[in-house]
Amino acid sequence: MKAVILIGGFGTRLRPLTCTRPKALFPIANKPLLQMIFEKLAENGFDEAILAVNALTEFHIKQQRLSRCGLKLKFSRDPPKMPLGTAGPIKKAEKLIGHEEPFLVLNGDILADFSYKELWESHNEDKAVATIALHEVDDPTRYGVAELAADNRIKRFIEKPAKGAAPTRLINAGAYVLSPKIFSYIPAGRAVSMEREVFPRLAEQKIFYGRKVSGLWIDMGKPEEYLQTNRIVLNTLRSKQDKPMKGRFEVKPPVAIDKGVVIGENSVIGPYAVLGRNVSVGCNVHISDSVVFADAKIGDFASVTGALIGEGVVVGKKTKIVEGCIIADQAKVKDGVALGKGVSVCPAKEICEGT
Ligand code: GTP
Repeated sequence: MKAVILIGGFGTRLRPLTCTRPKALFPIANKPLLQMIFEKLAENGFDEAILAVNALTEFHIKQQRLSRCGLKLKFSRDPPKMPLGTAGPIKKAEKLIGHEEPFLVLNGDILADFSYKELWESHNEDKAVATIALHEVDDPTRYGVAELAADNRIKRFIEKPAKGAAPTRLINAGAYVLSPKIFSYIPAGRAVSMEREVFPRLAEQKIFYGRKVSGLWIDMGKPEEYLQTNRIVLNTLRSKQDKPMKGRFEVKPPVAIDKGVVIGENSVIGPYAVLGRNVSVGCNVHISDSVVFADAKIGDFASVTGALIGEGVVVGKKTKIVEGCIIADQAKVKDGVALGKGVSVCPAKEICEGT
């Protein structure tokens, strides 16, 4: 069983952290999302994953040395300076995918907990050309929305409908099984949108089916959604660490603290703090509701709340980093700086008082 994982997007909504790593490599409670996807594919009986990347995402993924979980991994790269969209990469990978059996396609920026295997089986039962997992949300207008008939056929598929125009609250959960017939629906050599070009056509031709899935589902498109993804996963770890720890420093669960982390005296970590590998935290620091990527250094008396701190970032002493702030990799926030709400700092940039 083969799966294609789409990981060649620009992740513009998560900039500037996506300037230096693809969304699929963002850690969730210290485990990269792509690692979680590999584990889930292996659990569901898949044996091969084709990663639809661009040159940069391929480079970053190869650097990460993720565990393959027994999966055979292949890369299919979009042409230079020509992102192929969400359907173009599938056509590009036609030879790697082959024509023998259906295959699964996953968006590489979604954390979900439903059975890929069941989706696959329902696809075969319905003899569909495409079978999409559908998740129910309160506001479907940001997503692709499907109208489902009683026999699970999709009557209509509308990408990002205007307010009031969505026929249902069932949205594209970012996972679908496709039969090899799909290749004749995707033109080669150009960017093609699965959601805007291919799915609506399949619905018209009555060969597009859907299955409602329930349980955990989260789209990691925006910074707040990324923080929320971490909170949800931290909550699942909470039972194992429900006792707060107080000693030289204090830990308020739930938290995730990776190997090599050093925490100074009187610092308070949590709740909802994620500290990546080798993060160094000074004395009298407060970190809550934030993700701090590997190798960052947080100076004495700093306070970090509701923020994303990139890899190798240096946060100076007595700094204040508040809700919505994103400090990209290797940036420096100098001593005494207080950032306002929602400030983004570009990679390797230095911020001092009055910048
Ligand atoms: P935004 O720019 O913030 O919208 O993020 P994005 O570029 O990741 O777009 P979107 O969330 O719509 O993409 C859905 C999935 O398709 C993600 O996993 C992307 O990585 C992937 N994707 C989007 N565009 C391309 C592309 O041109 N090529 C490839 N290979 N994958 C893509």
